[in-house]
Amino acid sequence: MKVYFDNAATTAIDEEVLEAMMPFLKEHFGNPSTIYSFGRETRAAIEDARKTIAQLINAQPGEIIFTSGATESNNTAIKGAVNYLGVERIITSLLEHHCVEYSVEFCRDQLKVETVLVKTDDKGNIDLDDLKNLLASSDKKTLVTLMHANNEIGTLLDIEKAGAICKEYKALFHSDTVQTFAHLQIDVQKMQVDFISGAAHKFHGPKGVGFLYMRKQNKVRSLIHGGGQERGYRAGTENVYGIVGMAAAAKKAYRNLEADKIYITELKNYFISKLKENFNDVDFNGNTDERSLYTVLNVSFPPSDKSALLLFTLDLEGICCSGGSACGSGAAAGSHVVKALGKDENRISIRFSFSKHNTWEEVDYVVGKLKEKL
Ligand SMILES: Cc1ncc(COP(=O)(O)O)c(C=O)c1O
Repeated sequence: MKVYFDNAATTAIDEEVLEAMMPFLKEHFGNPSTIYSFGRETRAAIEDARKTIAQLINAQPGEIIFTSGATESNNTAIKGAVNYLGVERIITSLLEHHCVEYSVEFCRDQLKVETVLVKTDDKGNIDLDDLKNLLASSDKKTLVTLMHANNEIGTLLDIEKAGAICKEYKALFHSDTVQTFAHLQIDVQKMQVDFISGAAHKFHGPKGVGFLYMRKQNKVRSLIHGGGQERGYRAGTENVYGIVGMAAAAKKAYRNLEADKIYITELKNYFISKLKENFNDVDFNGNTDERSLYTVLNVSFPPSDKSALLLFTLDLEGICCSGGSACGSGAAAGSHVVKALGKDENRISIRFSFSKHNTWEEVDYVVGKLKEKL
């Protein structure tokens, strides 16, 4: 049996998405920057996709730019806020994805920006009182960057509260919403965010395409220089079939969101109950209640000779899951996120992440194999 429990790393592309993309791989190949009919066709498809994404997050189409993925979107927002919006100070946490963490480090080391870490607890929750205090303690123009759902442990940020705090102190607010866009309702007005990011391959779309939302008052210029595509906000010929696929995947995800959410939540809860039933010393990294993203479960097993090789043993049994933070890699090497929780570092942490394609039988199979192998 093959079980794919690594949907936070990437997801299988939907048939309907592939069908929407195919004409743009075959017939409609025109460069969208050209003025003749071939180019106008692909330009129209891009603008349609822009409207779709904007509508889904309650933004305006002009506030969306298409990128090569979330890594580029997050780099653009963070470095751009320093380079173009006068940010002198960045508040972030120890739990961010490397593309945010290293962008912040770049701003600190190369652009001489002050960086500050907000306190987090042993479940990965952000201390919002500390955020308030940090914002109150300086007059420097500040960017706050805090992810909406942690990709490794699933802990959710109270993003509306965080947004309100940033607004109160006139700070810019960037949130990496890669794991939540198309999995939870996103409303950039309610959340009072200035920047969010998305990547199509996290919601059954194609790889290598994403978007960045930038509030119209706070737009940053292009990270990479070249042509005037994306109205000058992102140089380089657009990934037309990818953009079309991303919009189709997002539309489908939001159409079925409530039903998929209920299904996946029940599956995750079943997995949790089966683990508790079968293992005395099982623990979970991050929240497991409603402050947790329903697609992610990070399980911690006690250390033993067998558990050290667990990911590889599971792979041999056809089970795909993840250890470290490198999405999709088999590395069981210490995760910076789990480390930041202050837990016993000798325990083995495995991230299982789910999609609408997973089944109860798969959970039974995985729990059975864990029992056999641990
Ligand atoms: C929270 C988060 N941010 C950013 C990324 C980077 O996305 P991409 O590799 O598509 O650029 C990922 C996944 O890889 C992620 O889970």
